[in-house]
Amino acid sequence: MTHGENGSVASVRGKLITLEGIDGVGKSTLAAALHAEIARERPVELLREPGGVALSERIRDLVKDPELRCDPRAEALLYAAARAQLVDERLRPWLDAGTWVLLDRFVDSSLAYQGAGRGLGVEAIAELNDFATGSITPDLTLLLRLDPVTARARQDKRLVAPDRLEQEEHAFFATVAAAYDELAAADPRRFRVLDADDTPENVLMLARIALADLDSPRR
Ligand code: TMP
Repeated sequence: MTHGENGSVASVRGKLITLEGIDGVGKSTLAAALHAEIARERPVELLREPGGVALSERIRDLVKDPELRCDPRAEALLYAAARAQLVDERLRPWLDAGTWVLLDRFVDSSLAYQGAGRGLGVEAIAELNDFATGSITPDLTLLLRLDPVTARARQDKRLVAPDRLEQEEHAFFATVAAAYDELAAADPRRFRVLDADDTPENVLMLARIALADLDSPRR
């Protein structure tokens, strides 16, 4: 809350911090650690995409199911539908109430995976997601960057079966990784690129440094 000149009380919008990167870069680990650190200082919520609310969690089950056929356009629409529900039910209300939100994937995932990876075009997917989100833009995006071969090797060490997206070939993830690099290069003010090959402790420290200037009134 802030107090205006006439004594009125206005709520300051919370900050939206998104985490992005190809599968296997350690996003979810960083998200949990970062959430615990920020929570010591202010109200903060952690969400993941697709998911976070009942409808979007059900869509998550659909898009991840290796047994289902899913046309690229259907896939893009499903991710956008899950996102629209999350924005309406949680994201916008929390940000409006001044809560910070840490989000494990957001629109950039669709731009990289569906726009570039599936070849639907980054512009078309951006338009679709503007509609889905009402044009919410993150205040900060942490891009965890790792060579796709190393990321795949990390995933192969896990004991869980790969989901529908994770079954894609190397070329798909190389395209997605290149698209992320282009998005980051095009918007250096919003993106901070972190080397995911570094130790988890260092990645967390660098993420904290990136977050430090979010409190600056100039942002
Ligand atoms: P994750 O929770 O393990 O990151 O799984 C989400 C999967 O969905 C991952 O393979 C990336 C993919 N995905 C997209 O293709 N487009 C999107 O918009 C989002 C949010 C995820």
